[in-house]
Amino acid sequence: MVATSPLELPTLTVSDPVRRKKILERLSPLILTPGQQQKIHDIFLDEMRLGLAAKPEKESSLLMANTFIPELPDGTENGEYLALDLGGTHFRVIYAHMKNGKFDEEIVDYYHVPSEKRLGPGEELFDFLAECIANFIQKRQLGGRNFQLGFTFSFPMIQKSLDVGILVSWTKSFNCPGVVGEDAVRMLNDAIKRQGGLDITVTAILNDTTGTLVMGAYLDKRCAMGMILGTGCNGCYIEKVERIEKWLGKHKESEVIIDIEWGSFGDNGVLDFIRTQWDDAVDNQSLLVHSYTFEKYFAGKYLGDLFREVLLTLAKEGLFCSGGIDILNTHGAITATNVSNIESDSFKGVTDETKAVFDNLNLIYDDDDLHIALYVAGILSYRGVLLVSLLSGILLERMKHDHCTIAIDGSLFQHHPRFRPLMEKFISDTAPGRSFDLRLAHDGSGKGAALTASIAERLKKRSSR
Ligand code: BGC
Repeated sequence: MVATSPLELPTLTVSDPVRRKKILERLSPLILTPGQQQKIHDIFLDEMRLGLAAKPEKESSLLMANTFIPELPDGTENGEYLALDLGGTHFRVIYAHMKNGKFDEEIVDYYHVPSEKRLGPGEELFDFLAECIANFIQKRQLGGRNFQLGFTFSFPMIQKSLDVGILVSWTKSFNCPGVVGEDAVRMLNDAIKRQGGLDITVTAILNDTTGTLVMGAYLDKRCAMGMILGTGCNGCYIEKVERIEKWLGKHKESEVIIDIEWGSFGDNGVLDFIRTQWDDAVDNQSLLVHSYTFEKYFAGKYLGDLFREVLLTLAKEGLFCSGGIDILNTHGAITATNVSNIESDSFKGVTDETKAVFDNLNLIYDDDDLHIALYVAGILSYRGVLLVSLLSGILLERMKHDHCTIAIDGSLFQHHPRFRPLMEKFISDTAPGRSFDLRLAHDGSGKGAALTASIAERLKKRSSR
């Protein structure tokens, strides 16, 4: 097998030309044409405009939420902070000691969030978080002092201030009744009180993209965009307040971070022209059907199932694998990590990882089936990179900074071999001549929350002077 480049549109090698032609035709809706790409570009710009408008003529699918973070770390950060990071199946509690703007010491503990907490009553979820904090404080012998805390809550929120975040909807694997429409900080504070014995002041609530941008700015002052490419997907950027029509007169600051919540791009139907039967299938099996359209086109929570759904269709039509295909009906049988590994095979010119995935599923396959899987993983990933890069390029053009560092965190960016190289290419194509670099801001959502707690303290001190 010949190694391919992550920059190339995948090609399909199958011995039977008729079968090859049939597969290529069947899967062609997954390849975005230049015309479709241009249309996505124009629609995203328009949805941003609507999301920032004071009186939009129709509702945007983009929240364009105010994060109330008007400035970034400036090197004066000092002191001890706590941070929480909730968004996936692992909740993290973090202690950070900052000295002259640098992290001097950090302690991180992970707590698994069981599904009954992710899907059960909201109050119980927040009680669980408070228990974890109490456990952390005790285990790490941090009792007896007051901590200011930054809370990364990686869900769409409407913020009323830096420490008030009203949940708009759950996403990913959470759906706890009683939280939508409520302030997550209030719910956390109530749970902390119920827990007792904790002296904590929640000073900031933020999204994980925002934390990533803040962490990116700590690493590189030129950072003006944050992105998560993991289980979910989202982006944020620094906007000039004068361009935010809906806040005119309400803010004295000149710039603020906007959490776009681009995972929901297309929830109003504007992206339906690229939607395929496999996107419908994945959406229909998801926890929150008919929401987070854009995220479901490629994010880590969905990529494995998309891949599986495409293979299932090919199998049912007699174009893939001669046996064992029932497993392809099982939701979750293939993960995004499997897809990443299969993609690595393509770039190495081998099929080892792909075989391991197939063997694990007990599929009956031959060489052609392996090549088909490589092709499917390739075109799905390629589509995902293209989508996320289009949006990133548009933001670079909008900000027009001399150079923009884009801070990114998440498993897809870290481990999927196509994302980083192809993003570099596609973002340059979308924003030609713009200088940028992609920087992994590892643990941006955790460390960024500690940094944001420190920014909150600075803002508070200044306003009370
Ligand atoms: C959430 C975003 C978050 C993203 C990445 C999405 O499902 O709505 O708020 O930033 O996942 O974690």
